[in-house]
Amino acid sequence: MDGNGRWAKKRLLPRKAGHKQGVEAMRRVVDWCDAHAIECVTFYAFSTENWQRPQEEIDALFELIDKFADREMQNYVSRGFRIRILGDLTQLPPHTREVLAKIIEQARTNTGLCVNIAINYGARQEIVQAVNRILRSGLREIDAQMLSDCLYTGGQPDPDVIVRTGGEKRLSNFLLWQSAYSELVYLDTYWPDMDDAAMERIVADYSSRDRRYGKIKRGE
Ligand code: FPP
Repeated sequence: MDGNGRWAKKRLLPRKAGHKQGVEAMRRVVDWCDAHAIECVTFYAFSTENWQRPQEEIDALFELIDKFADREMQNYVSRGFRIRILGDLTQLPPHTREVLAKIIEQARTNTGLCVNIAINYGARQEIVQAVNRILRSGLREIDAQMLSDCLYTGGQPDPDVIVRTGGEKRLSNFLLWQSAYSELVYLDTYWPDMDDAAMERIVADYSSRDRRYGKIKRGE
């Protein structure tokens, strides 16, 4: 969800105003995904590297996450959405951990749209914790399926498409294992400006891609 800071700067607003608008964009995107029968959507809200930002910005982000959990996620629970938090939650502020744990418990038996929120998430850290989990179980050899199952996204399909907003063209430690065959879409749009029209453009772009998974088509 890149470009919140620049969206705010353009309007001479503090960065946290950009993040606040970013939350509005998240709501729009979740509603769009629900209306279009998307199976699973993942938002990268806070990376393991984001702790290096000024404390004031970190506090503002966790305030938004807490509010989002209290209001929006409660609403998602009652709409039957599955909710999963990707990341190491042990390092989060205690109040955030509490509200998120409550939401996860409430959504436990839901079967609808799967909403993943990556918080204190880093793909390398995710892979290392998965390997450590396997090692602790006593196994000395693994296969790809085992590793997939032990990631935070275990049991979920790999993403068909990964979208990065804000003009940057890199994955920045996001779903590195899961993105092996994902289609990458890079938009100049700042995250707070994401709307239904932008989602439609992503679908149009994605639909034009030829996904071969390393194979060639019959007759070629
Ligand atoms: C990246 O843009 C954005 C973030 C590091 C934070 C994203 C968080 C939210 C949208 C809100 C909080 C999350 C939830 C789940 C409620 P940037 O700040 O790096 O933007 P810039 O590149 O323009 O500076």
